[in-house]
Amino acid sequence: MPSKSSSMPSQRRRKLRLRYVAGLVANNGAYYPSVEEYYSSLESRFGYWLLLGNARHCALRAMEEKLYTRLDTKDGSVLDAGAGSGYVAMYMARKGLDVQAVDITPHHIVDARKNVHKHHLDDKVQVEYGNYHNLTYPDASFNGIYTMETFVHADDPLKVLQGFYRMLKPGGVLVLHEADFSRNSEVLQDVLRLSHCQNTLEEGGYERLLEEAGFTDYSLEDLTDEVLPMWRLFGIVGYVPYQMFRLLGIQHRFTNVIAGVEAYLNWGDGRYISVRAVKP
Ligand SMILES: C[S@@+](CC[C@H](N)C(=O)[O-])C[C@H]1O[C@@H](n2cnc3c(N)ncnc32)[C@H](O)[C@@H]1O
Repeated sequence: MPSKSSSMPSQRRRKLRLRYVAGLVANNGAYYPSVEEYYSSLESRFGYWLLLGNARHCALRAMEEKLYTRLDTKDGSVLDAGAGSGYVAMYMARKGLDVQAVDITPHHIVDARKNVHKHHLDDKVQVEYGNYHNLTYPDASFNGIYTMETFVHADDPLKVLQGFYRMLKPGGVLVLHEADFSRNSEVLQDVLRLSHCQNTLEEGGYERLLEEAGFTDYSLEDLTDEVLPMWRLFGIVGYVPYQMFRLLGIQHRFTNVIAGVEAYLNWGDGRYISVRAVKP
């Protein structure tokens, strides 16, 4: 009698084999993954390593200089909230700033410490575990605070901003560099949920929140044109795997692939912004 697998049509067997191989690097399939789950999946680790050389933000070097300029803090200490593997923190340190870097994902902290040490910046950058919702640094600790593509992960954005306000010195500056997607499209909703990026704000949302937290001198710059080449690259590199995963019905297990392709295809629904505000 033929075995079950030999009676299976060969196309279905091939599909199953592909699903199995794909499953080895997929995310864990959580409907609403935590930040740590999202960044710890093999897919995330591999994708960031392959496309970004482990620098965990899509806008790369030009945005670091922009962020530094917007911070306008020539010396003193700054907080990098959500530092990833520490590249932005090291950039700021080379500009002369003392950086307190925090992150919630354990393996990013390990990477950041290694990077800081490798580049001989241990006296300029401290790396600690920390959730930016609950940081306990004393009041008025920092001249500047910034986020680079991490405030989008906030579960309680107002609480985060109130904490930043408390930890800034009077006259201190907050700069947030973030992608900002509208919630029009269903597939983008999926992408935002799967990458734990629920904190995208409607038009005017940043200004209102910052005002509520006590900040003044609000300004917003739209930097979309500067990051589009990078998004285009993600869209092109991810297109074939994305179509293949869709055929297999497992695209939701490959958050970064969907995010890369759909964010590019729906870029008209999003922008990349630099938000700046001052503690009076
Ligand atoms: C896209 S990466 C950006 C990393 C870094 N800012 C950069 O530009 O290379 C987002 C980072 O934010 C961190 N993160 C997300 N939510 C956080 C939270 N509540 N507290 C601290 N870090 C957080 C993640 O662990 C991740 O390392």
